[in-house]
Amino acid sequence: MGNTRWRAASRAAVALAGAGALAAGMALVLTAPAAAGTTLGASAAEKGRYFGTAVAGCKLSDSAYTTILNREFNMVTAENEMKIDATEPQQNRFSYGSAEQIVNHARSRGMQVRGHTLAWHAQQPSWMQGMSGSALRQAILNHVTQVATHFRGQIYSWDVVNEAFADGNSGGRRDSNLQRTGNDWIEAAFRAARAADPGAKLCYNDYNIDNWTWAKTQGVYNMVRDFKSRGVPIDCVGFQSHFNSDSPYVSNYRTTLSSFAALGVDVQITELDIEGAPANTYRSVVEDCLAVARCNGITVWGIRDSDSWRSYQSPLLFNNSGQKKPAYDAVLAALNSGTNPTTPPPTTPPPTTPPPSDPPPTTPPPTTPPPGQGDCSASVTVNQWNGGFVANVRVTAGSSALNGWTVTIYLPSGATVTNAWSADHSGSTGTTTWTNVSYNGQVGAGQSTEFGFQGTGTAGTPTPTCTPR
Ligand code: XIL
Repeated sequence: MGNTRWRAASRAAVALAGAGALAAGMALVLTAPAAAGTTLGASAAEKGRYFGTAVAGCKLSDSAYTTILNREFNMVTAENEMKIDATEPQQNRFSYGSAEQIVNHARSRGMQVRGHTLAWHAQQPSWMQGMSGSALRQAILNHVTQVATHFRGQIYSWDVVNEAFADGNSGGRRDSNLQRTGNDWIEAAFRAARAADPGAKLCYNDYNIDNWTWAKTQGVYNMVRDFKSRGVPIDCVGFQSHFNSDSPYVSNYRTTLSSFAALGVDVQITELDIEGAPANTYRSVVEDCLAVARCNGITVWGIRDSDSWRSYQSPLLFNNSGQKKPAYDAVLAALNSGTNPTTPPPTTPPPTTPPPSDPPPTTPPPTTPPPGQGDCSASVTVNQWNGGFVANVRVTAGSSALNGWTVTIYLPSGATVTNAWSADHSGSTGTTTWTNVSYNGQVGAGQSTEFGFQGTGTAGTPTPTCTPR
């Protein structure tokens, strides 16, 4: 979805090229800007952007809703279904059904998915709300690792951390159980997310960071600058952009977007809604995104006003009956105006994908294991914090398939395994031995699978060895 015009133009050019000498000149004419897009997604794609919406899983059975969703949008965010209380309702018991329903609906129709959200002070399950200290630190990093691993390869960008800064004039962090585990909790979450899904863009997402003069905006800006300077894996900043009279759109929004982009991150408008849906303000938001090369796209927080979390503000692009509002026309016109990008729009994922499996599908290894070292290799990525760690281990088959594997990992004195997934183990201190479970023993030649564990103490930089069984 979304790049119809490009495909149509190149098909026409190919057809004409076969028609003779006249063809080259005519093809040039045909590859000039064609008719403007007629849907938000198609028009955004012509500008190398996406246009998305929040989706509530329970509404996917409403055909009026899905008609608009499928016609207009090429990016989807689960409104609640990927939040911590939804995906880990009991500790270490993960529940992905409603999230997968949304992901599958989107990806089977060529829409991409923004993951929202891995770590947040709100919408925590009750077991997490009561936790603190290193137990909470381990729990949240395990959550980040598990959820991002589960959806690996299916997420365009993850909101790794949501709303961690305080409102008001402090410019500092919001107090929360997560913040009280130590100021480095945010970077630890980003490192865990990168290890779990290296292909997803990793975003920090917040509200009230749209006005460049506000202390909260500057606080987040300084954090992102610090992360970039120290190599913390952050790729993007999400601007929720819930605009209303207390937090209005201001014309320095474009300065905010471009200033963040200048730090070397992408920017995304992630939850747009505007009280009263004034067409001019919607137009300005679109123009601001198009003016910033690193603004990847815009997501509105719902389809019809009746779908909005603030339905009393009628803040969206479609009315309760699903009809286009003036704000819709303004957005579409803004997307269609101006010049097209010099680079083609991003390619969309394949229209059909295998259903997600648990654990995630095996992925090709980053490098081919050197010959002559047996038929498998393993590598470990450790996310360490003061007092504990999460380790992810990747097992890669050599030139022939594996029917089972054993990995040995030596842990330094003081390090103890407390919890593990996707492998059985013997030994929790010193020499630990890990064997495949029923579903991940078979690994095709050159393919990989992963398991992980968490523990207390300091893991150091373990060197694993892998043996076929
Ligand atoms: C909101 C949902 O829209 C509601 O359905 C839910 O009851 C509360 O959360 N910032 C965010 C979103 O990051 O997750 C919030 O979504 C809106 C504010």
